[in-house]
Amino acid sequence: METESHVLERPPEGAGADWTIPQDWQAYGDAEHRVWDTLFARQSKLLPGRVSEAFLRGLDVLRLSKPGIPDFEELSERLMKLTGWQVVAVPGLVPDEVFFDHLANRRFVAGNFIRRADQLDYLQEPDVFHDVFGHVPMLADPVFADYMAAYGKGGQRALEYGSLKQLARLYWYTVEFGLIEEAGGLRIYGSGIVSSHGESLFALDDPSPNRIRFDLKRVMRTDYRIDDFQQNYFVIPDFETLLHTTVETDFAPLYTELATLPDIAIADILPEDDVITHGTQDYARKRAAE
Ligand code: PHE
Ligand code: FE
Repeated sequence: METESHVLERPPEGAGADWTIPQDWQAYGDAEHRVWDTLFARQSKLLPGRVSEAFLRGLDVLRLSKPGIPDFEELSERLMKLTGWQVVAVPGLVPDEVFFDHLANRRFVAGNFIRRADQLDYLQEPDVFHDVFGHVPMLADPVFADYMAAYGKGGQRALEYGSLKQLARLYWYTVEFGLIEEAGGLRIYGSGIVSSHGESLFALDDPSPNRIRFDLKRVMRTDYRIDDFQQNYFVIPDFETLLHTTVETDFAPLYTELATLPDIAIADILPEDDVITHGTQDYARKRAAE
């Protein structure tokens, strides 16, 4: 994911100093638009009753159901009016400081390429479907939009304190793989879940993973996996609480404290955890045995 690693050390040929490139929307072929449409149809059928209300509202107000890969300029125009965010194209993963600078300035960086038709279910690097379908609807929500920008500033600070690993876990367990408790029950909002057919089902229905109520310090101590479905999901009560607890907490003393505490192994449950589902971890065990 974006905060995980970076592939290149300097902007590639043709990219600006901020690593952005033109989306080059005209260059997409029919087959590429069709991949988007296939993924879009499959996910939008699955999501009602599973995804946060805020995400569905975002799809709607951004008119993302229009066929084909969205044009970032058109999308940015709508998004700008709603929350001041824009979507800019990058060739792939970018360095952490570049990523944080974009977020802090309300620019969401999205890959402009799309997966091939034979890669619908699994992809190593975030493509335009993950980045745009997965992330952008939430950026139309004013509270979540503020959270993402605050996270960008937090990233710049974490770099100074050498605590990126701890901060990145917060991103992972909220922005990428977060669950929320809404009136109808648990819902997904993390982009990594929302853009994945398999994980959209697994994250809510499978008895395997733990589902634990969100606690900032706990999350920042918890390892995660990047190669398969998560073994833990953390559940926020609402986006306001997520925004307020993260913005109002000074992370500097937290980073100092975290440096003295052991990391928490992926599937471990602690006595102080507020557990919604104590997972069987059967899925992870089965996969490890394969
Ligand atoms: N309050 C955090 C800090 O002091 C910044 C932050 C805000 C981080 C929101 C993540 C999300 O560094
Ligand atoms: Fe992502």
